[in-house]
Amino acid sequence: MSAFNDEQVLSVHHWTDKLFTFTTTRDPSLRFSNGHFTMIGLRVNGKPLLRAYSIVSANYEEQLEFLSIKVADGPLTSRLQHIQVGDSIVVGRKPTGTLLIDYLLPGKRLYLLSTGTGLAPFMSIIRDPATYEAFEQVILVHGVRQADELAYNELLTEHLPQHEFLGEMISKQLLYYPTVTRESYRNMGRVTELMESGKLFDDLKLPGLDPLNDRVMLCGSPAMLKDLKHMLETRGFKEGNTSRPGDFVIERAFAEQ
Ligand code: A2P
Repeated sequence: MSAFNDEQVLSVHHWTDKLFTFTTTRDPSLRFSNGHFTMIGLRVNGKPLLRAYSIVSANYEEQLEFLSIKVADGPLTSRLQHIQVGDSIVVGRKPTGTLLIDYLLPGKRLYLLSTGTGLAPFMSIIRDPATYEAFEQVILVHGVRQADELAYNELLTEHLPQHEFLGEMISKQLLYYPTVTRESYRNMGRVTELMESGKLFDDLKLPGLDPLNDRVMLCGSPAMLKDLKHMLETRGFKEGNTSRPGDFVIERAFAEQ
């Protein structure tokens, strides 16, 4: 059997001139866990040109969804940004990754800290009922430069709290904290600064980070991951992986492609 499926694009939504989302058909045999990424891409001159993308959609959904930046000279995204409904997309059959609640030790609160397209795997995790069974509170932080890059903001604030099955859990247990660094917005500053200063915890009426109760997932740029990993380790958090659960887990946002 081939390592890839050919899927069809079902919808495309451009958030900004640098950021877009698309959905595709899903082969019914494709299995993944919420938080996983897989290789996706296009056939260029007959050969698959692929990059790792986190799956935005939850594993019980019929369609697949992906969030992508657009890079003018990026080998894949310079082409991918032009996809249209009906086009073919190559999707790897072996999703994988470390951002799974299974790779975290039990805890009270789950912090999902993201910048840019690092939000993608968390969109899947926050739509998984198992997340709300495992943690009393789930705090989703998304840091971007400009407010229009806050992808899924409306879904998170307006639609998901009203969702037929997830609405009650989401309204009671999910705290969403969008923050912007390069224009004025209700929350401003980098995720790192907001945590160091304690402003994020004050705004959400939460106690400061504590390795006894808090678990953390990180997904963002290499610089963001490095700074947050350092901050967590300084506070006594231990990194987990696919073979040994820990207090936090990391995946890089698969940008610059
Ligand atoms: P800033 O505007 O201060 O650089 P990018 O689009 O470059 O991936 O950035 C997405 C968001 O991540 C921006 O708000 C950016 O803030 C922020 N950011 C960049 N580097 C870090 C870092 N080391 N720690 C936390 N946030 C960061």
